[in-house]
Amino acid sequence: MKINEAAKHLNTTPRAIRYYEAKGLISPKKDEANDYRTFTDTDLMRIGTILALREVGFTIAKIKKLLEDPEMSMTQYLHVQRQALFEQWMEMRDMIETIDQMIGQENEDETTMEDMQQLAAHLKKLKEIRSSWKDRWNFDSQAETYDEQVQLRGQAFDIHQGYEEALAQTAEKISLIRGQTCLDIGIGTGNLGARFLDKGASVIGVDQSDMMLQKCKEKHPMIETRQGHFLALPMLDHQVDAIVTSYALHHLPDEEKLLALAEMDRVLKANGQICITDLMFPNEVDRKAALHQYEAAGNQLAIDCIADEYFADQSLLAAWFMEKGYQVETHQFHTFLGMIYAKRVTNA
Ligand SMILES: C[S@@+](CC[C@H](N)C(=O)[O-])C[C@H]1O[C@@H](n2cnc3c(N)ncnc32)[C@H](O)[C@@H]1O
Repeated sequence: MKINEAAKHLNTTPRAIRYYEAKGLISPKKDEANDYRTFTDTDLMRIGTILALREVGFTIAKIKKLLEDPEMSMTQYLHVQRQALFEQWMEMRDMIETIDQMIGQENEDETTMEDMQQLAAHLKKLKEIRSSWKDRWNFDSQAETYDEQVQLRGQAFDIHQGYEEALAQTAEKISLIRGQTCLDIGIGTGNLGARFLDKGASVIGVDQSDMMLQKCKEKHPMIETRQGHFLALPMLDHQVDAIVTSYALHHLPDEEKLLALAEMDRVLKANGQICITDLMFPNEVDRKAALHQYEAAGNQLAIDCIADEYFADQSLLAAWFMEKGYQVETHQFHTFLGMIYAKRVTNA
């Protein structure tokens, strides 16, 4: 097929095809005598793929890398791209909301420049928070041994104390019927999410770690895995009937935790349920009392572990849900492991 025909066939222009060739994305056979290009079926497939990837926002450089990289599959790249688009989308949404608020203030008589600046400063802070999270724990490197780690007992401070019981109770708390969808955020190797497959639900597991997701898929092929982040969940609004998360939210500082709750609220359907099981103290007073006890007992490991992560204040998270109109129940398994169950009773 010649270039004009190929362009017509693919609903693009000869110019675009020449551009992809110049960028090294395709190399159709050329007739040396007259420089005419001939496009084979394979060339057409390749151009079709390039066009599709351009349509979903891939840069030329990214496409080149993808086409040349034998290690990474197309699906993996699409996951990365989807997550990048969701992050951009969140940023755009924050900006639009700020503009709406600015317009709202403009219509009020007493708007000052200071009010506008405050809104802009708040937006800047949101951007910083959303982009600042780093995986300090290197979860990719933990994926292979994670399931053994959670079973280890006998340390001076056992961070996984009560793990099995807590996951079992979380799964029991969420009532789902066949065909409903459950999202597990920070799914790791799938130990919680998989329990909902047994109830006949579809399970989507989100995690920022590729290796954790790979392990999860290996163990539970029925779980749909998506690379993503608590602060920019890779799905559109009101898509899931239930959200669970275990031993993951404590990797976010407190202000990020509240943004993560807002993300859960965004993707949850009307009458949906959320269950968070994590390292948390009932409130600040209990946190201080516990730290005091570890200090008195000379348990430096406990103090270091608590300082290294962001154990939640259960009362703060519960208050956030209540303010949003959720019915909330809390449970404390032991000193630093708790659960919050929140049922949405208003429409999404
Ligand atoms: C300790 S593991 C818990 C895994 C599983 N939920 C369980 O209960 O066994 C924490 C998991 O949360 C994921 N995670 C931590 N912070 C995250 C974030 N901000 N966004 C998405 N996933 C995150 C990690 O990659 C890791 O797989």
